[in-house]
Amino acid sequence: MSDRTDRTEKTELRIAKAEFAAAAAKPDQIPPPRGPEIAFAGRSNVGKSSLLNMLLARKGLARTSNTPGRTRQINFFDVGVAGGPELAFVDLPGYGYAKVSKSESASWKELLESYLQERKTLRAVVLLVDIRRGVEQEERDLLEFLALRKELTVIVAATKIDKVSRNAQKPTIAKLAKEAGVRVIGTSADTRAGREELWSRILEQVG
Ligand code: GTP
Ligand code: MG
Repeated sequence: MSDRTDRTEKTELRIAKAEFAAAAAKPDQIPPPRGPEIAFAGRSNVGKSSLLNMLLARKGLARTSNTPGRTRQINFFDVGVAGGPELAFVDLPGYGYAKVSKSESASWKELLESYLQERKTLRAVVLLVDIRRGVEQEERDLLEFLALRKELTVIVAATKIDKVSRNAQKPTIAKLAKEAGVRVIGTSADTRAGREELWSRILEQVG
């Protein structure tokens, strides 16, 4: 799809509702499931909260920061697509952040894994990978972990594609797709590239 198609305003998916619903810092705080959920996972600072805001066209809904490790809990957002379904977006705490204590990082891991393993209403996980970093050991580990739940769809999105030159975007995304073994959607929270394509993948899982 060309960038021009991406930016045609008429085709932009509209959001009727986007609001914070709940937060969980421990497994027993995870709210009871309601509608279908789409979770956003990836290393700390990869741009999970920014992408979620971009998809929802709400600037400060999920909190973003230059400080890695900002999202320390699982945040649930209720979402309504104009003329479409209701669902929930789930902003997961980032992994791979070195500057937290061992016990804190172990408790995040436990929280993340219990959610990803047990959540019945989880339809898809969007795994975010920074276009400049590519797929590293943590991403391979997570992909392997997610593959244990065979019914779960994993969508891989490259973030911050505005950080590489236009010429380099396509080949870099192709390389990433090879590393991940699946198709990769290039996205940018800054330019909103990839928004419609990612939404269409998400809606396939919710419909
Ligand atoms: P944690 O909650 O700490 O795990 O981080 P996160 O994955 O939620 O990342 P967040 O959305 O907070 O973004 C981290 C930093 O990257 C912020 O300074 C954002 O402004 C920046 N950022 C996120 N997405 C993009 C993007 O598409 N392009 C550019 N240029 N910067 C981005
Ligand atoms: Mg975050």
